[in-house]
Amino acid sequence: MKIGILSSGGDCPGINATIRGVGKTALTYFGMEVIGIKSGFQGLLAKDILVLDDKSLSGLLNLGGTILGTSREKPFKKLLSGKEEDKSQIVIDSYRELGLDCLVCIGGNGTQKTAYQVSRLGLNVIGIPKTIDNDVWGTDITFGFYSAVDIATEAIDRLHSTASSHNRVMVIELMGHKAGWITLYAGMAGGADVILIPELGFDIKKVNKAILDRVNKGKPYSIVAVAEGLGLESRIARMIEEGTGLETRETVLGYVQRGGSPSAFDRNLSTRLGGHATGLIAQREFGKMVALYEDKIVSVPLEEVAGKLKLVPADHDLILQGKRMGVSFGV
Ligand code: F6P
Repeated sequence: MKIGILSSGGDCPGINATIRGVGKTALTYFGMEVIGIKSGFQGLLAKDILVLDDKSLSGLLNLGGTILGTSREKPFKKLLSGKEEDKSQIVIDSYRELGLDCLVCIGGNGTQKTAYQVSRLGLNVIGIPKTIDNDVWGTDITFGFYSAVDIATEAIDRLHSTASSHNRVMVIELMGHKAGWITLYAGMAGGADVILIPELGFDIKKVNKAILDRVNKGKPYSIVAVAEGLGLESRIARMIEEGTGLETRETVLGYVQRGGSPSAFDRNLSTRLGGHATGLIAQREFGKMVALYEDKIVSVPLEEVAGKLKLVPADHDLILQGKRMGVSFGV
């Protein structure tokens, strides 16, 4: 069999480890042929490829980013006019001309939706979930998430000393548009005093009260972790400064969260997902996304995943335990 692998959407630590997991298992165990498709679906449309052999699959386990490159090209995107752009025939032609037996799509929500649309064209597709945001429906965890949480936690750790030296409120914005997973996990691991995530919303009066309560307990500084989806971290910082009278500073961690080496956990998750994805191809079980469920690798139909988001539930244990310990979630 000949398989093509592409990575699409925002990059994250662990994509190269996944390419390696798929590629090495395919070559070594199943005797398949493997090609890499450059720059996501853009490369599929343009048939821009590179052959992945044993040599090119070496040295990838700890390498950040993606050797294949990525793009946000969607062959079925909605145009501003409201019409659907349909590049189905180009996708079908490329797949056939490349001689593929299966297309492996490594990506987040958008990519899994596109993967489903490609599978509906009658082509063989396997999805592998990735994103630092951890918001892909159908899997407990996406690789990239814990690497990003480690980086964000270290950043919060470093804010503590400067916050306490200056008696300041430090607002740190972390990634996650609709989902607050990184902010919740790094906020709790970094000992943030206030954690604000899109799923819960917030009341600025409650945030300010939590900060002033700390002052009254002899703790004149605070760390506030905010998910980018709530928007306008600078407005939040201003509202805190005005509402509490405390000097407030803001930090936007940004793309640092997405760069560099995957954590050991993410490397192993990538390896497992890559290996199992290749196993599904060998069994000709197409139209599925591999996923982590209670520490086992399972598969979920792409049809079930497409168009859904996995958000932080309001009763998440970290929220419940945080609340009991006095962490404010702004609600
Ligand atoms: O999908 C991950 C993510 O990091 C989001 O949290 C972030 O908002 C987005 O990607 C930004 O990515 P880009 O600027 O590459 O579109």
